[in-house]
Amino acid sequence: MDTLRLILLYAHLVGFAVLLGAAVAQYVVKPVRINAPMIWGAGAQLVTGVALSAPFPRPYELDPAKLVVKFVLALAIFVMVFFSRKRDVVSSGHFLAIIGLTLVNAAVAVFWR
Ligand code: HEM
Repeated sequence: MDTLRLILLYAHLVGFAVLLGAAVAQYVVKPVRINAPMIWGAGAQLVTGVALSAPFPRPYELDPAKLVVKFVLALAIFVMVFFSRKRDVVSSGHFLAIIGLTLVNAAVAVFWR
């Protein structure tokens, strides 16, 4: 069981890298638009995050409130990515909010103990 949890955690971290990496690279290279890896990364975070929230035996407890906050933020990111995917250009504010919410969700994961 611990192997499955660790594989899911690994996939969760890869999804985080893909989402953040694709977003930052797109913002720097321009045009400011949603690219395919951002959609896949945002979707992967939702799927692997919910799977990770299963009651695996763990050496520590997960706070349910933390999981709700993470889910709401990840859902917001997915909606912001998915429904803007066909626009040629999105506003800088919208795009920076996606990057910011991703960073906030990683901070919630790491600092909320
Ligand atoms: C953009 C969205 C997300 C980002 C950037 C993100 C980021 C992270 C990071 C960096 C970790 C590793 C923390 C550590 O091991 O110290 C983590 C773990 C975790 N995340 Fe997420 N996450 C996201 C979405 C979600 C969602 C939607 C859920 C489910 C509600 C979730 C549930 C979890 C759980 C349960 C763990 C801990 C796994 C364990 O230690 O067994 N995450 N997340």
